[in-house]
Amino acid sequence: MSDLPNIEHSIAIPYQLRVLFTEKAFDTQNPLLRHVLCAKESGARRKAIFYVDEGVASANPQLIAQIEAYFQHHRDDLNLRGIHLLPAGEPIKNNTDYLKQIYSQIEEQKICRHSYLIAIGGGALLDTVGFAAATAHRGIRHIRFPTTTLGQGDAGVGVKNGFNFHGKKNFVGSFAPPFAVINDFAFLETLPEKHLRNGYIEAIKVALIRDASFFDWIESNADALNANDTATIRELVHRSAQHHVTHIATSGDPFEMGSVRPLDFGHWAAHKLEQLSDFRISHGEAVAIGIAIDTIYSQKAGYLDQASVDRILNLIQKLGFATYAPELEHESIPGENTTLAGLEEFREHLGGILTITLLKEIGQRFEVHEMDTDLILQSISLLPR
Ligand SMILES: NC(=O)c1ccc[n+]([C@@H]2O[C@H](COP(=O)([O-])OP(=O)(O)OC[C@H]3O[C@@H](n4cnc5c(N)ncnc54)[C@H](O)[C@@H]3O)[C@@H](O)[C@H]2O)c1
Ligand SMILES: [Zn+2]
Repeated sequence: MSDLPNIEHSIAIPYQLRVLFTEKAFDTQNPLLRHVLCAKESGARRKAIFYVDEGVASANPQLIAQIEAYFQHHRDDLNLRGIHLLPAGEPIKNNTDYLKQIYSQIEEQKICRHSYLIAIGGGALLDTVGFAAATAHRGIRHIRFPTTTLGQGDAGVGVKNGFNFHGKKNFVGSFAPPFAVINDFAFLETLPEKHLRNGYIEAIKVALIRDASFFDWIESNADALNANDTATIRELVHRSAQHHVTHIATSGDPFEMGSVRPLDFGHWAAHKLEQLSDFRISHGEAVAIGIAIDTIYSQKAGYLDQASVDRILNLIQKLGFATYAPELEHESIPGENTTLAGLEEFREHLGGILTITLLKEIGQRFEVHEMDTDLILQSISLLPR
């Protein structure tokens, strides 16, 4: 006990969440990156160190030379401190050696809190480099160049980063808004078809929880998406990014202090499936199945009509996603379906009480705090396969 008064202050930190759209950012005539790097202070040359997804670098053999040429062209303002390639996809999020490597390079190159850590790649690379940027020196300015549809529309435009630990997705991570996100559409031109599609499912997800007219738009543009029509893909990515950023900025809980997580619709089963498949099933593919389960569940529990279920499942399938995976039947203990453990893991990850987003209508979500196990298993058995 003490007679001295407690000390309390509220702290409000304004963040600017900026997603900038461009094409060919490393063309020496494109001023965007130089503007972004030099916006904060004038004077000293701005130091930047790059981390590039190996898959992106091999699909764009000129990229490294273009970045070097860009910094050479703007050498009065910019100071390039290295370009490093890192493995693509989930393996980078599973191995702490990569984090250690990034920390060492930050230290060697004297990258300070006013320098820039720039990541170019898929969501997995952005999550890893973003975590390093958020934690080295307790936070270095971080610029993301997402190169997948999923990254440009969802994973890269948010405020989270993450790293897997003990086989659990994003067990380690932080909330750290990037200095800027630059969506360079030219990167999507080299993205393999399987990954091109992955961003479409996060767009469907955000449409289902927020915007019926966006769902209608995706439905009526499914043929154009399947034909890889550039303008349609760009519009989808832009609308998806807009919804994700608006939700984060206006929902009142950008750092997810509460338990409501609508942007994670369909994700409780998805995260478990990714893990059960040893990441053979990609995030987007797993989310497609997770959305299918929670859509059927919404109907079985009496909230959503069958016509909406049919529309949602048809669209998912039309865009080339499977709605079933054999991993859904996995039993680590005989008689106990392992996918169901995903619910408790999801609750543990979010904290607080279990909160799952379901659908009332297309574009209308609501939250429940428990799910009926038998109804989940029934929903899984009804998945189109
Ligand atoms: N932080 C968040 O808020 C958030 C949100 C959603 C998803 N995620 C994470 O994002 C990850 C999935 O990201 P993803 O779907 O972007 O996949 P990914 O990072 O696994 O990359 C997919 C593959 O595409 C290749 N690739 C990427 N861009 C390319 C290009 N332009 N040309 C050629 N090849 C290219 C990569 O090399 C890789 O092999 C998951 O780890 C997921 O957990 C994070
Ligand atoms: Zn997702």
